[in-house]
Amino acid sequence: MTRPVKIAPSLLAADFARLGEEVAAIDAAGADWLHLDIMDGHFVPNISFGPAVVKALRRHSRMCFDVHLMIAPVDPYLAAFAEAGAERISLHGEAGPHLHRSLQAIRALGVSPGVVLNPGTPAAAIEPVLDLVDLILVMTVNPGFGGQSFIESQLPKIATLRRMIDATGRDIALQVDGGVTAKTAPACIAAGADVLVAGTAVFGAPDYAQAIKTLRGGAG
Ligand code: DX5
Ligand code: ZN
Repeated sequence: MTRPVKIAPSLLAADFARLGEEVAAIDAAGADWLHLDIMDGHFVPNISFGPAVVKALRRHSRMCFDVHLMIAPVDPYLAAFAEAGAERISLHGEAGPHLHRSLQAIRALGVSPGVVLNPGTPAAAIEPVLDLVDLILVMTVNPGFGGQSFIESQLPKIATLRRMIDATGRDIALQVDGGVTAKTAPACIAAGADVLVAGTAVFGAPDYAQAIKTLRGGAG
């Protein structure tokens, strides 16, 4: 497989007292996108940060800001994240009854829409919105926390989604998030993923550049 692999470090594992420096450091270390996990203590059992923090970080980096919304409802907050500088916004189909409308709303804001699948949600759930998205994110942990173990049973789902994407002929990114490490990254890439989110495996490493290189290395 020769598909280039992008690495999107998750800011959730960064030092929150030094966020600007952390973002600049992973940018310099060769990260492709910055993954920003937004948690509301309602859709997921944890609270992270909101659009004001995303906006403040925007001037510290030119990386693609990849916002992963783990909030319900999502619609009232989409404009705020677009204005904060998000280039991509992904949301969970499980977060509300109006996935189709929310994806249209993201596109109308000039932002690239993505859809996220929890471990308990089948690949087929995204079929009705496949024409609306530029990215599909497969959760390989239950969302809410960094540092959890990779759920191996999601690998066939990644492969199924790769086939579904290829059948569209469209350029839809296939992203994996949760427990991605040097050990689990090669299986994700082999299954067809082309964007790897990694929190602990990057920000928990002594050398960010080496960690990013190692994760990407599975691409062959
Ligand atoms: C989990 C988040 C992830 C998380 C990944 O809900 O969506 O992005 O930060 O952290 P690691 O890579 O440590 O599993
Ligand atoms: Zn995430």
